[in-house]
Amino acid sequence: MTTATRTRLKFENAKPNIASRILNTKEELLSGELSAEIRELIEQRGVLVFPQINFTDDEQVEFTKTLGTFMPEMAGQDVYAISLDEKVNPNRDYLKGSLYWHADGTMNALPIGYALLTSKVLPTWGGNTEFCNTYAAYDALSAEDKALVANLRVMHSAWTSLFYYDPEPGQDMLERMMGIGDKELPVVWTHRSGRKSLVLGCTAHHVLGMDWTESARLLNRLREHATSEPFHYAHEWSVGDCVMWDNTGTMHRARPYDPDCGRLLTRTKTGGEEPIA
Ligand code: OGA
Ligand code: MN
Repeated sequence: MTTATRTRLKFENAKPNIASRILNTKEELLSGELSAEIRELIEQRGVLVFPQINFTDDEQVEFTKTLGTFMPEMAGQDVYAISLDEKVNPNRDYLKGSLYWHADGTMNALPIGYALLTSKVLPTWGGNTEFCNTYAAYDALSAEDKALVANLRVMHSAWTSLFYYDPEPGQDMLERMMGIGDKELPVVWTHRSGRKSLVLGCTAHHVLGMDWTESARLLNRLREHATSEPFHYAHEWSVGDCVMWDNTGTMHRARPYDPDCGRLLTRTKTGGEEPIA
């Protein structure tokens, strides 16, 4: 009698509430056999690390396609080069906002589903990527805070994040960012699964209908809570590491690094599967 052996996902948790390291081989990952287990695990863990898996661009695209609907960049390319070198990335200004806590595509009708980064060139200093688990942060709120935020809605805009890195922008720059529009979003995202996560970040401007000082106090307190140690994971890159996050249940940011050091990460992503509601 022959027994078919099915490849199983092998992993170890990095921290109790966030991030696991996946120990399977590249071949096992590219086979697609593990994608259902990966999707299930990342919804719990927020972040999956594939230490020095050394995906080529093509392999990263192939792997991403096993996880959901592959989403090319707006300009059409499959892989986006995260770099502050103008020769590599002509839109480097766009990355300045990534130094502040955010989720990707909050302003879109559907935010991004999963995003994957592979390290190609290390920074000389700084440049960790940090994540927080916004499901775990919601779950840990007190009953009072859960009741307080249950029905709150917040105005989000790209221009709000502009002021984080350019506090006195030219009017033309402000108008351009305002052209991206704004969006009212709930503080609590009730997912189709029934699980709830917090929607915060550097696009959040104010809570609708709340005194503006109270609003700033609350949004800052929630951000501080959500990004605090129990829900936080910092990834210090080695070349070839791939890190994947569930963009619907996490926030992330890059830590400052030498803008001229050549730090290079390559990103792929999948389309979100449900609107923030
Ligand atoms: C991103 C991002 C952070 C980094 O790719 O969306 O925010 O560390 N990257 O460069
Ligand atoms: Mn980002």
